[in-house]
Amino acid sequence: MHTIALFDVKSYDRIWFDQLNQHYQIKYFEPKLTMDTVSLAAGCQAVVPFVNDTLDAAVIDALCRQNVAVIALRCAGFNHVDRAAAKGRIPVLRVPGYSPYAVAEHTMGLLLALNRKIHKAYFRTRDFNFSLNGLIGFDLHGKTVGVIGTGKIGQVFARICKGFGMQVLTYDPYPIEDPAFESVSLEELFRRSDVISLHCPLTEQTRHLICRETIAQMKDGVYLLNTSRGMLIESQALLDALQQKKIAGAGLDVLCQEPMRPENPLFAIKDSRKLIITPHMAWAPVETRERLMRCVYRNIEEIK
Ligand code: NAI
Repeated sequence: MHTIALFDVKSYDRIWFDQLNQHYQIKYFEPKLTMDTVSLAAGCQAVVPFVNDTLDAAVIDALCRQNVAVIALRCAGFNHVDRAAAKGRIPVLRVPGYSPYAVAEHTMGLLLALNRKIHKAYFRTRDFNFSLNGLIGFDLHGKTVGVIGTGKIGQVFARICKGFGMQVLTYDPYPIEDPAFESVSLEELFRRSDVISLHCPLTEQTRHLICRETIAQMKDGVYLLNTSRGMLIESQALLDALQQKKIAGAGLDVLCQEPMRPENPLFAIKDSRKLIITPHMAWAPVETRERLMRCVYRNIEEIK
């Protein structure tokens, strides 16, 4: 292994990778990996894509034809990889569990901002407007949160909620045994939760997990949080639920298409008290970036 190609690179990616690198020639590419850019990886033995790079069958075929030996994802999720196309031809490595605290803390940040309208209040006070009109939230203490997916991130988020004095319901096809949380069916979680937070991966089973049918099962005025993957939520159904006040507010770090495009139905929501979108940043604190890059580098070292 001599040359590594990183796609969708930002300046902060370079800092850590340059520090870690001892053996390789590194090519940093700002464009995302797609069929149009895959030829940039010609002559490279390892390719390091990020969450929104394309790794469908066509791109994987092209990487194999170019004799790329390994795809070392610099992310935990692998829903964007056509694993059937890669199987037996090219190893695909990922970085599981590099940031459970970062993502869980950001999720709570979204909830606090949504509930207490902190972002809205900030702009008001800058305009010397100290009115509390429309800024009133509720106590999280005593409320019920439903955590869907109790892997590494879901468990940390559930414990943070417990620290706030919330009652925690969990749903996972592989339930955890923890007396602090109440493991329930998905239907019961939808029916009883004041806040619902998504921490499961995007799979065939979870795509559009939040749709008209499941939203109808939820309490009126529920808050919805998604720091997992955008396609877990059907955007048009969420838009309608927000407009009809079925869902009081949504905090999203992930979208169906990132960055957000004007054709995204959620663009229609102009009231920042109802919808907060952050730019897929939950993973990104400084310790996490270092851990992530160390793991990517180690993955490449181990496969060489
Ligand atoms: P994990 O693999 O530790 O946990 C995922 C959990 O989801 C597992 O317990 C699994 O059994 C459960 N699950 C699978 N299918 C399910 C279903 N149908 N319903 C409910 N639960 C189901 O993964 P981890 O590290 O907790 O990450 C979760 C997700 O968070 C990742 O898949 C990724 O999409 C997202 N993520 C987002 C980041 C961000 O910056 N916003 C950063 C890192 C991860």
